[in-house]
Amino acid sequence: MRVRAWSTSANLGPGYDIMGIAIDAFFDVVEVQLVSGGPDALVTKVEGPYAASVPLGRGNSAAAAARAALEMAEQRLTARISLWKGVPPGRGLGSSGASSSAAARAVDLELGDLLSEKQLIRAAAEGEREASGSPHPDNVAPSLLGGLVLMGSRIVKLQPRVEFVLAIPWTPIPERKTERMRSVVPDIVSIGDMVRHYSHLASLVLGFATGDLELIGEGMSFSLIDEARSGLVPGYSEVRSAALKSGALGTSISGAGPSMLFLCGDCEGIMEGVRRAYKDLAIPVTLMRVSPAEGAAEI
Ligand code: HSE
Repeated sequence: MRVRAWSTSANLGPGYDIMGIAIDAFFDVVEVQLVSGGPDALVTKVEGPYAASVPLGRGNSAAAAARAALEMAEQRLTARISLWKGVPPGRGLGSSGASSSAAARAVDLELGDLLSEKQLIRAAAEGEREASGSPHPDNVAPSLLGGLVLMGSRIVKLQPRVEFVLAIPWTPIPERKTERMRSVVPDIVSIGDMVRHYSHLASLVLGFATGDLELIGEGMSFSLIDEARSGLVPGYSEVRSAALKSGALGTSISGAGPSMLFLCGDCEGIMEGVRRAYKDLAIPVTLMRVSPAEGAAEI
């Protein structure tokens, strides 16, 4: 069973840990073979452009997700996994989430589609726990289900008609980056800050629900989390203001960064402005126009 899962951009500003969108920038492919004994899972082969950046064996996020899926389905089997690693790790693009989602889906399809959506998300989130210490679902849910996913008491899926410019700066990444970026998020905030944060979250959700691009952009553009992390994202203020001046309707850090997401607007104009800003900062960058991608599926 071979499954492809796409990259994702989590949070979209104030939707920290509850919202993410699958984007057609990069993908991983997982091939799973189930053998007797277990439940267990291990990655036996890694290929692709980012193969050197992820581990073989039981410590790969794909293995953790596959093991969790087998445990949930109560199967005494072992998943032997081949991974084609196409999502760059450590850039805020849901790299571990794509491997985890592809692995959970591939195991479940091999078993005959036993797990519910919620179980698949929980299994794939175990891959996130392996990769970053926290089982946040906001990358794995959109990578599994496609489009935009909002995880409240229910899982809400939308296929918004939006286009973004994605900027991926090639700067050095700290060890255990996601853990580090989560450690700067404040545990306690004032009521005034909270109101400002959730008023933007309300705009974001309402914007997606009604297809109002300006409301989505307004919603994306403030988050207590992005504010707390901004000093650790190379060129954050310069690039953000260049994007807004070039017509971006909204801006956010993609996941835990350092990539940034800009809502179009005029994508070409934004690319031009953002490229110049990174150039002035002497930061190498890749810029891409991206749209919502489909969920993890057999290929
Ligand atoms: N919601 C998570 C975070 C996503 O921002 O830490 C990490 O990819």
